[in-house]
Amino acid sequence: MIVALNNKSNLTKEEFLSYQEELGKITCASTMILCASPLNIANYNLTNCHWGSQNVSKDLVGAHTGEIAASQLKSYGVEYCIVGHSERRQDQKETNEEIAQKIQNLYAEGIKPILCCGETKEERESGKLIEVIEQEIISATENLTSEEKDELIVAYEPIWSIGTGLIPTIEEIEEVFKLINNLLPNTKVLYGGSANDKNIDELKQCSLIEGYLLGGLSLKPENLKVFIEKLEN
Ligand code: 13P
Repeated sequence: MIVALNNKSNLTKEEFLSYQEELGKITCASTMILCASPLNIANYNLTNCHWGSQNVSKDLVGAHTGEIAASQLKSYGVEYCIVGHSERRQDQKETNEEIAQKIQNLYAEGIKPILCCGETKEERESGKLIEVIEQEIISATENLTSEEKDELIVAYEPIWSIGTGLIPTIEEIEEVFKLINNLLPNTKVLYGGSANDKNIDELKQCSLIEGYLLGGLSLKPENLKVFIEKLEN
């Protein structure tokens, strides 16, 4: 199992240092990936986590003010990077083409991408679920080699579920996972969206889920510990 932690734009330097101390106490069999906010990447200091980033520039190193290039992430020991998170697609108007470019940049540095996909409530209700997921996956992966496709991690995060406390039914999750598994047969697929220590028993019923991308729960090491215990037992 993969347990990826997306801290989003949370935790000051001091808060991150004490957070990291708490996180360091968690022992788990799963692969834990910490995706802290960019400033805190420089402070990574744990042996039970792999290092991740929440984003990478579509541009290479050079004159791109405010951007962080894949080679810079690599130089800080980053091994995984989230791309195409719905918050970036919505807030920064990130396009599928830019996301495909980011994936290329990451692979050029040997960093594993975690590609996010997911539909809004309106898209689901208007019957566009399959179209949206297919488009997000195909446009991001059509230029990848089969080895790169196999290395990729996909996170299905229904937008209406992120931070709302709502989770899809197991049938709804299975429908999307089967679609992704058909498009990318050897790619690991994670679930993200309000997953927590209360609903993990229910989510565990879906045998297709190969890990989780956690937002809110990533900031609560005590609850995260319970989540991991339930997940692994
Ligand atoms: P929540 O777990 O807070 O719903 O966030 C999920 C998410 O966006 C992880 O990338």
